[in-house]
Amino acid sequence: MANILGIGVAVLDIINTVDGYPPEDAKVRALSQRVACGGNAANTLAVLATLGHHCALAATFADDADGRRLREDLSALGVDTAPCRIHASGRTPVSYILHNRRNGSRTIVHHRELPEYDNADFARLALANYDWLHFEGRSVAATRRMLEHARAARVPMISLEVEKPRDGIEALFDVPPVLLFGRDYVSSVTSAETPEDFLRAMHAHYLEKQIVCAWGKAGAYAIDHTGELLRSPAFKPEHLVDTLGAGDTFNAGMIDALLKKETLAQALASACRLAGEKCGTEGIARVLHTE
Ligand code: FRU
Repeated sequence: MANILGIGVAVLDIINTVDGYPPEDAKVRALSQRVACGGNAANTLAVLATLGHHCALAATFADDADGRRLREDLSALGVDTAPCRIHASGRTPVSYILHNRRNGSRTIVHHRELPEYDNADFARLALANYDWLHFEGRSVAATRRMLEHARAARVPMISLEVEKPRDGIEALFDVPPVLLFGRDYVSSVTSAETPEDFLRAMHAHYLEKQIVCAWGKAGAYAIDHTGELLRSPAFKPEHLVDTLGAGDTFNAGMIDALLKKETLAQALASACRLAGEKCGTEGIARVLHTE
């Protein structure tokens, strides 16, 4: 199994399950509440650790009760938090999430008042220990420096998640051999009509990369280093229970499958299957408590 470092965020997710999405200005009672460790990088690593990989997280926490709780939770899952930076001030990020029991949708209001993980902390890590680095595409300038550092250190594999548009995020695309795009990014910043058009255009710019687009209920698309377009349908669970973290689970599925030397087409199918299984289950096996 591989040694994987994820660079991104960990978040306290406060998840209220409701019976239908409420109208604006309504007062509704939650059917249940659970509090869990979330955040894209943390979620992806939690799944990869469950699959047997040795995982470590590079994220920031405030020196507060939520931060301690999240670190304990991650450690219990086998995700090493030693590379994380604890800030003396600020607050550990929180997401307030409405989970609609009727269709599994998740609506997220995210609050953060904490600096992102930065290059100075990253530069101190022993990168030779890792087989794969997975970056969340967040703070562009710092991530660019970290990517260059990782490339100079000859880390065997690097992936970048591009979930949604951010100013200048395109400056990150040339380094990682694996680019994992979310539908929000593809739909909102490109003029491409379809994921296939987007992938063809990306391939023309970034030859030799494996470029992937998760497309929700429609499955996922990819283009390989030769320019071959690939598609996998979504794997629908018998009951759609909870879509929170489905994209993060998909990314974990891609990383796991590519580490196992599956072809890109096989990896796409494996990742869709894993994300589908997640949508049929509540949480990502990291529930801290239910009230
Ligand atoms: C799901 C998720 C949540 C978190 C939010 C952060 O993808 O990682 O766990 O609250 O997104 O953007």
